Amino acid sequence: MPECPYILLSCAMSIDGYLDRPSGPRLVLSNDADLDRVDEMRAGCDAILVGAATVRSDNPRLLVRAPSRRAQRVARGLPPTPVKVTVTERAKLDPAASFFTTGDTDKLVYCPTENTAEARAQLASVATVIDGGRTVRMRRVCEDLRSRGVRRLMVEGGQSVLTQFLTAGLADELRLAVAPFFVGNAQAPRLVGNGRFPWDPSHQATLAGVRQLGEVAVLTYALSARYRSA
Ligand SMILES: NC(=O)c1ccc[n+]([C@@H]2O[C@H](COP(=O)([O-])OP(=O)(O)OC[C@H]3O[C@@H](n4cnc5c(N)ncnc54)[C@H](OP(=O)(O)O)[C@@H]3O)[C@@H](O)[C@H]2O)c1
Repeated sequence: MPECPYILLSCAMSIDGYLDRPSGPRLVLSNDADLDRVDEMRAGCDAILVGAATVRSDNPRLLVRAPSRRAQRVARGLPPTPVKVTVTERAKLDPAASFFTTGDTDKLVYCPTENTAEARAQLASVATVIDGGRTVRMRRVCEDLRSRGVRRLMVEGGQSVLTQFLTAGLADELRLAVAPFFVGNAQAPRLVGNGRFPWDPSHQATLAGVRQLGEVAVLTYALSARYRSA
């Protein structure tokens, strides 16, 4: 069977398990120390994946920010910041989004065969559009990324993407930051949607680390036998 990269899921949620507010500007769930922790994790990865809805709603740059970390990557023969990856079914992405316009690194877009031509017409000048098959499955995306040299993949959300990686049993590790407040609105996206998860009351995940960064708690769960502590 083709190999997958080591897969690290990274996200932040409120105490009541929400990834964002229901609408409006993106909810900040990290403090400076936590942002620096995420930056360090990014610097240690070959690629970062987010869903297309996150590209549209948050307009993230997904870059390694610290100049010293970028320089260390370049000294190791890597691009200053990891390859950026997204998945889309509808292929409605703006080539002017920060995902595409920032960072001296490759940008990859996986979409179903049916919409590949449309995606290429929109994005060919800013990204490599990859035909993900009739339905884009995360395992296939991961195997393809591994064949492109990605050994360590960081998945930064949102809810739909996290749910697919977890229910497919693809994740090796979950780093979950818990912000010290509630959202309290069921219209907001939760950490995951409905699904059958490999970890349930009779098959529990292993809590591999707990870290306090100011008022933010960072929980590390080992989700596979491949888990390696940083
Ligand atoms: N707190 C955090 O750590 C964090 C991190 C990231 C995001 N977020 C939040 O999460 C929310 C977005 O989450 P979300 O669940 O709506 O969206 P998402 O997971 O970011 O993206 C979902 C979109 O990705 C595409 N997609 C997902 N799986 C696919 C598949 N198998 N095949 C083809 N395309 C696929 C589809 O794009 P198309 O619609 O283009 O077809 C789908 O609508 C935002 O509020 C954002 O702020 C929070």
